Amino acid sequence: MKQDMIVILDLGSEENPRLAREIRALGVYSEIHPHDISREELEALPNVKGVILNGGPNRVVDGVEIDVAPYVYDLPVPVMLLDHKGQPGLPTMQEARRTQLSEWVFGICCAQPNWNMENFIADQVELIRRQVGDGKVLLALSGGVDSSVVAALLIKAIGKQLTCVHVNHGLLRQGEPEQVVEVFRNQMDANLVYVDAVDRFLDKLAGVADPEQKRKIIGAEFIRVFEEEARKLEGIRFLGQGTIYPDIIESGTKTVKTVKSHHNVGGLPEDLNFELVEPLKMLFKDEVRACGKALGLPDSMVYRQPFPGPGLGVRCLGAITRDRLEAVRASDAILREEFARAGLEGRVWQYFTVIPDIRSVGVRDGRRADEWPVILRAVNTVDAMTATVEDVPFTLLQLITKRITHEVPGVNRVLYDLTPKPTGTIEWE
Ligand code: XMP
Repeated sequence: MKQDMIVILDLGSEENPRLAREIRALGVYSEIHPHDISREELEALPNVKGVILNGGPNRVVDGVEIDVAPYVYDLPVPVMLLDHKGQPGLPTMQEARRTQLSEWVFGICCAQPNWNMENFIADQVELIRRQVGDGKVLLALSGGVDSSVVAALLIKAIGKQLTCVHVNHGLLRQGEPEQVVEVFRNQMDANLVYVDAVDRFLDKLAGVADPEQKRKIIGAEFIRVFEEEARKLEGIRFLGQGTIYPDIIESGTKTVKTVKSHHNVGGLPEDLNFELVEPLKMLFKDEVRACGKALGLPDSMVYRQPFPGPGLGVRCLGAITRDRLEAVRASDAILREEFARAGLEGRVWQYFTVIPDIRSVGVRDGRRADEWPVILRAVNTVDAMTATVEDVPFTLLQLITKRITHEVPGVNRVLYDLTPKPTGTIEWE
């Protein structure tokens, strides 16, 4: 293993994820583990240079104050109990902690600042090979950031022992299924099963207007299609997963219980009896992107804006019809193209179009015509809990309006959604 590590044992501090990030910012890899980790498990972690017990006000679980196993104090590496608020009386929590941490990590633990993507990838390749041996791995590859980075990492580690399954449910953005095939099959020479399930999904969704029902149908059908493909393949023992650190630690507030319980199975069936391979489970989102970049994935894939699992299905409001679905896909492509041209790509958190199930009268080719409106939405947020509306230049809005109303069949109006969250949500349904 190429990286030194500082382990944080979780005694319930809300600060643990931030602490791990601060240590990583010093160039030293850090992981959070449950306070009741066994001695064997802890000693099996590679290159541990020090252990931090991070305290805090949440040390009570089910009415019992938790404490760390006594053996921790006998470890052959330095152990520090760090209060979650840092030292009292020092300038700011962050500054005080950074100095304190840095002195401890380098001066006392003698850790080397060798945490970087190159070493991370080298270590993961070795770990994946060790776990998988000559076994076969299956991966649901949506083309989103996490699954794409896992795919690239697994391809590097085990090549054709990996089979990726890409389910095109017809609700992806323009060009996305083609990009998955181009990048993974053509450029990376991966085993890729491309499943055209468009008709299947749209048939199941026909006439269904309730958003939660739509979500359920999309999720359930995805599992069905994936299971069918998995059963066609033989001898698969492992399932690759794009689980990332925030999926596991959530906000790190409820102690080890949450650390252990949450598994982002991405809606996949649990009864397929696969062993999971989750090489990104210790990375924060920006680190996942850096990893993808280091593995040679294109920027358009690595820096992709968030996209809901049910995809355009929840942006084609009400019962999905093929013509409105195509209209939302085409208008979304125009919006993205013009945002990129205006230099807004990567600067705005999320931007997309929505098509409601209403028509209004307009004029086309000198005649009255009832057509749909398209709504533009562009928002910024840190955590998706609240969001503000992007102040898009009026001339850009006019240009996008002109293009959508001229290029997208059936659309005669364009509206810009000025609503922050709250009261609006980011998506419309
Ligand atoms: P809302 O609309 O709740 O969205 O303000 C917050 C963030 O979550 C995304 N979102 C979803 N993501 N499945 C997903 O994977 C969903 O059903 C879903 N609904 C909303 C949304 O795009 C935004 O980033």
